[in-house]
Amino acid sequence: MTLSLANKQVLLGVTGSIAAYKSADLVRRLREAGAVVRVAMTENAKRFITPLTMQAVSGFPVHDDLFDVHAEAAMGHIELARWADVVVIAPATAGFMARLASGQADDLLTTLCLATKAPIAIAPAMNQGMWKHRLTQQNVQALKNKQIHLLEPEEGSQACGDVGPGRMMEPTEIVKKITALFENEALRGLNILVTAGPTHEAIDPVRFLTNGSSGKMGYSLATAAREAGGRVTLVSGPTAIPPPPRVEYIPVITGQEMYEEVMIKIAKCDIFLAVAAVSDYRCEKTADQKIHKMDASIQMTLVPNPDIAASVGQLAQKPFIVGFAAETENVEEQARAKRLRKKMDMIIANRVGRGVGMGSDENEVTVITASEEVHLPSMSKHRLAAQLVKIIADEFKRKRKL
Ligand code: PMT
Repeated sequence: MTLSLANKQVLLGVTGSIAAYKSADLVRRLREAGAVVRVAMTENAKRFITPLTMQAVSGFPVHDDLFDVHAEAAMGHIELARWADVVVIAPATAGFMARLASGQADDLLTTLCLATKAPIAIAPAMNQGMWKHRLTQQNVQALKNKQIHLLEPEEGSQACGDVGPGRMMEPTEIVKKITALFENEALRGLNILVTAGPTHEAIDPVRFLTNGSSGKMGYSLATAAREAGGRVTLVSGPTAIPPPPRVEYIPVITGQEMYEEVMIKIAKCDIFLAVAAVSDYRCEKTADQKIHKMDASIQMTLVPNPDIAASVGQLAQKPFIVGFAAETENVEEQARAKRLRKKMDMIIANRVGRGVGMGSDENEVTVITASEEVHLPSMSKHRLAAQLVKIIADEFKRKRKL
């Protein structure tokens, strides 16, 4: 099975409808598709299905109280709203939709919906008469106008004995619709080559030089590029995260190996995303046996690794090159200089150090090209990657006059 929602963070809101019994199955199917799911329930939802059931199927404690001091100390409502890549309300009652449509924030779920920047999808479930009512339809229209995605209820026999529209969309269909929310055509038909993660430069058989890159930024970009229709090759140094689905994955250890793999692939590449934190130096000589502790200090001679991005920048037929600059001071200034030096079309500057940017789940960047600079505030690397892919695709098409 292809994991269509691999690593996506789904916040599932459950409101008080008999269809809430399907929410447990929905969690299971979202997780089967690769998503990480957290559940928030209204008080009325808990009359139909227990938080314990939802905790058991999601693997996380359920969120149900706006003023829960324990939750606020761990993952409070604002963190939860930020955490989500998508918010799905299934089932959504007529009452919940009315409150959301009028902008109320009087419980955890409505507050989350107002606080999040993630897309919101709602799967209504209610009696057919309530669904057809003019006021409900006005609310549906108001929600659509606010870019909230409607997962249309289905027709059929209802728990109350009526027949008509108002049954919650089946969980398998909801998963398909949520998957489609992440897909677009921005890079359709283009070959995208991504480097990610750190490199390991051996000192002896058990020690190496490296850095704190986790691969999260590069893997998120590879995923977002794939979701945008690109054919993606990911050349990755050693990381602890699984390769994204539906991409060609080439694992490497050293900067030299990464250079060689990139040079094999570069001729067919339209866009090169150099996200890897490649070690600038490697040991001139690697010891064959483990180096033992001595009283005296020891010396190592380091020689430069090939600069992959700069080498690609030198090619006569070069792709559109996007680099990253990881800096601890004068971030934008250094990035601008690096972009020119390495002949990159675009560079993405990020501050690193003290748990920021490198190794973390979130990142804050400035996108720099020859003609403009755009600052993107701190957000999850997943969401940032989706935004970066749109910016990269637009700039690529502008430069190639497509
Ligand atoms: O992996 P994460 O934990 O998610 O962290 C993401 C990140 C901080 C590693 C990423 O966002 C980032 O900034 N990557 C580039 C890090 C870096 O080492 O930058 P640099 O200033 O050394 O290099 C500038 C550019 O040249 C980069 O595009 C780099 O990939 C490239 N380079 C550098 C050296 C080298 N030998 N070959 C290269 O291709």
